[in-house]
Amino acid sequence: MDSCFRSLTRISIPTIFLAILLSSFSFTCTEAYDALDPNGNITIKWDIISWTPDGYVAVVTMYNFQQYRHISPPGWTLGWTWAKKEVIWSMMGSQATEQGDCSKYKSAQPHCCKKTPTIVDLLPGTPYNQQIANCCKGGVINSWAQDPNNYASSFQVSVGAAGTTNKTVKPPKNFTLLAPGPGYTCGPAIVGKPTKFITADGRRVTQAMMTWNVTCTYSQFLAQKTPTCCVSLSSFYNETIVPCPTCTCGCQNNATHPGSCVNPNSPYLASVVNGPGKNSFTPLVQCTKHMCPIRVHWHVKLNYKEYWRVKVTITNFNYRMNYSQWNLVVQHPNFDNLTQIFSFNYKPLTPYSSINDTAMLWGVKFYNDFLNQAGPLGNVQSELLFRKDKSTFTFEKGWAFPRRIYFNGDNCVMPPPDAYPYLPNAGSRLSFSLLALLMACSAVFFVLFDV
Ligand SMILES: *[C@@H]1O[C@H](CO)[C@@H](O)[C@H](O)[C@H]1NC(C)=O
Ligand SMILES: *[C@@H]1O[C@H](CO)[C@@H](O)[C@H](O)[C@H]1NC(C)=O
Ligand SMILES: *[C@@H]1O[C@H](CO)[C@@H](O)[C@H](O)[C@H]1NC(C)=O
Ligand SMILES: *[C@@H]1O[C@H](CO)[C@@H](O)[C@H](O)[C@H]1NC(C)=O
Ligand SMILES: *[C@@H]1O[C@H](CO)[C@@H](O)[C@H](O)[C@H]1NC(C)=O
Ligand SMILES: *[C@@H]1O[C@H](CO)[C@@H](O)[C@H](O)[C@H]1NC(C)=O
Ligand SMILES: *[C@@H]1O[C@H](CO)[C@@H](O)[C@H](O)[C@H]1NC(C)=O
Ligand SMILES: *[C@@H]1O[C@H](CO)[C@@H](O)[C@H](O)[C@H]1NC(C)=O
Ligand SMILES: *[C@@H]1O[C@H](CO)[C@@H](O)[C@H](O)[C@H]1NC(C)=O
Repeated sequence: MDSCFRSLTRISIPTIFLAILLSSFSFTCTEAYDALDPNGNITIKWDIISWTPDGYVAVVTMYNFQQYRHISPPGWTLGWTWAKKEVIWSMMGSQATEQGDCSKYKSAQPHCCKKTPTIVDLLPGTPYNQQIANCCKGGVINSWAQDPNNYASSFQVSVGAAGTTNKTVKPPKNFTLLAPGPGYTCGPAIVGKPTKFITADGRRVTQAMMTWNVTCTYSQFLAQKTPTCCVSLSSFYNETIVPCPTCTCGCQNNATHPGSCVNPNSPYLASVVNGPGKNSFTPLVQCTKHMCPIRVHWHVKLNYKEYWRVKVTITNFNYRMNYSQWNLVVQHPNFDNLTQIFSFNYKPLTPYSSINDTAMLWGVKFYNDFLNQAGPLGNVQSELLFRKDKSTFTFEKGWAFPRRIYFNGDNCVMPPPDAYPYLPNAGSRLSFSLLALLMACSAVFFVLFDV
């Protein structure tokens, strides 16, 4: 699968056919991992920090080692199967969703006696005496690349009937992670070197009694989500605006699903938005032909002699979601010569080091890192300036459009390649060179006044 993607991306056919190939690729190779973040994983580290009379106390930490995929609200849910007859006496920073049958225990009641406990994070605002460091964020974890200070989540668990030496303790089996929906597969627990902890003053090192970790990886194929995002395209050289494909994320259907979307002009807008389901995480979208919560628009804006310029706009059509740390992943062959980006952060993603065609883009803190719910404020935008590489650059055959786009790690559906706006052909070459001249003039204008 790996080699299948590599060989495909190395073929340099800078045409629209690449896009066709890529879209067929996603059907033929069922990606068991994310091709744009091949090392991305969530690691669950389990450190036994002390022994108790009938078991141990452990600190469990989840690290989101993914470039761009967050664990978004309503957050993670972690499950496992105990190897023996363990019980959870108590937890800090998270809780089991069900206690299960603890009737065997007469005097003290365990927190959870289920063979396969299901754990969720506590909510922000939890009393201090139930918190530990890195807990209580409602299960939300940001990605490693975008928020290096906030990519972990921890809880403490006191386990009974577990064995009290590193020979008798057995790691749980069958870890499952919903983050929030399906899509992650977790491997077995691997016993490794005990973690070392450095005290706050840096003068003493302690170590865990025993440490194991579990690695979970994401696959878009396993997640099998219906699309949540689509792409529309336009250019200065053709007045056609290619919209998102109709019914990308659903169809407007008054007969079977009345109220599946809301009209922004509806007098009932406020009452529908605040109506039942307000706190559910089901999107309530504005009525559009595509019905997607998110649309990304790519406009090829200007052509200078040495450079060309693109405007990217992300629009939120969901009345029930603010995206507080949104990100985009964009693949386009000209990213190796990105010269300037205005008002977005940029990080090159180079999954296969020889090619540098994929970028992660996200908002500037306190300026546009918050994508508001649908409405007049529900969009963010930026412009990208690329340096032309004479050997590959062309406006023909849709080359100027992106090969793929992800919003918050979810694939955005592109219009079919044969619909892309195209360059007026040979017959109108004269008028195009006039247009080019015009563009060159405005380029001077932009260099002087804008860039
Ligand atoms: C998980 O990601 C981390 C950080 O990139 C990496 O060090 C580790 O090797 C990865 N684990 C696996 C099993 O790939
Ligand atoms: C258990 O502890 C002993 C000594 O403390 C150590 O030599 C051994 O490697 C440990 N075994 C495991 C599985 O951690
Ligand atoms: C782990 O899960 C698999 C599939 O769900 C099941 O067949 C297996 O019995 C489980 N193992 C344990 C130890 O529960
Ligand atoms: C997980 O365990 C493996 C094997 O012991 C180790 O190589 C790796 O560094 C560990 N990862 C983390 C994040 O602790
Ligand atoms: C749904 O109903 C609205 C108003 O009642 C109407 O304008 C719209 O055309 C209808 N859409 C479909 C797909 O029937
Ligand atoms: C989104 O944020 C705005 C402004 O902070 C707030 O008024 C609104 O209630 C939020 N919407 C949701 C769905 O959380
Ligand atoms: C990829 O391209 C960007 C933009 O030109 C550049 O800043 C970055 O250093 C390149 N990265 C690699 C690994 O070549
Ligand atoms: C574009 O980037 C590539 C790789 O970084 C470099 O080899 C090439 O010279 C650049 N082209 C221009 C026109 O700057
Ligand atoms: C613009 O592109 C569309 C395809 O999206 C094409 O049908 C149309 O002829 C093009 N316009 C011109 C002036 O070439």
